[in-house]
Amino acid sequence: MKPIGVFDSGVGGLTVVKELIRQLPQEEIIYFGDTARVPYGIKSKETVIRFSIENILFLLKQEVKLICVACNTASSLALPEIRRHFKVPIVGVITPGVREAVYATKNKRIGVIGTKGTIKSRTYEKEIKQFDRRIKVTAVACPLFVPFVEEGWLSGKVVLEVARSYLKPLKASGADTVILGCTHYPLLKTVIRKILGKEVTLIDSAKQVAVEVKNILASEGLLNSGHKGKSRFFVSDNPEWFSALAARFLGRRAKNISRVNNV
Ligand code: DGL
Repeated sequence: MKPIGVFDSGVGGLTVVKELIRQLPQEEIIYFGDTARVPYGIKSKETVIRFSIENILFLLKQEVKLICVACNTASSLALPEIRRHFKVPIVGVITPGVREAVYATKNKRIGVIGTKGTIKSRTYEKEIKQFDRRIKVTAVACPLFVPFVEEGWLSGKVVLEVARSYLKPLKASGADTVILGCTHYPLLKTVIRKILGKEVTLIDSAKQVAVEVKNILASEGLLNSGHKGKSRFFVSDNPEWFSALAARFLGRRAKNISRVNNV
């Protein structure tokens, strides 16, 4: 049976792979991390669309049966455009998180945090409004969170102070539900929770993304059965850097990492 293809700008998408492996252990996964061109969060829409198309073309060469865009920035900026170009089922990370947040909020106030590109696109806001126009959305970019996570700064005074400053508008909005709209942010959950308080529900879309992948594969009769699936990882640069960081996102060591010059 064919593998599932997953791509992200770098290592962050491994938070989604972790959940795919947990929910679909019999599936083979091919991951592409565009480490030569990361970060996507500060790039223009046109550039993110071009990179996403190139990443998908690479995954299609590996004969994947479904593609998961495990990057919030690429999902926010490129999803409608790439869906127009390809027939293969494509799952993004926005709608699954939005669905969960809309279901979770009691006071109809949702906060969203993400990269500059994700927040500027207002994709989360538009999708939330499609579910329920009455929901008030407060969205803020937290650009220093990605480098913090990649440098392993997951706690401590500096991170706490920066987070406090970024999250001020969310606290003021009274949102009872906050979407962690970036692959890296689930690793900062403890800090974010400390600032927003235990009562606020934090939404990490990875679980729902895996559920959606499972549902699509089931409805198309494409689910693997039998053997435990393998994962293979491709990066466009710096496999050593990727390997060192992978464990933090995946919860275990990533084997089978290769560098490719496709992009
Ligand atoms: N993967 C990106 C996201 O989820 C974060 C890293 C980047 O800016 O490329 O938005």
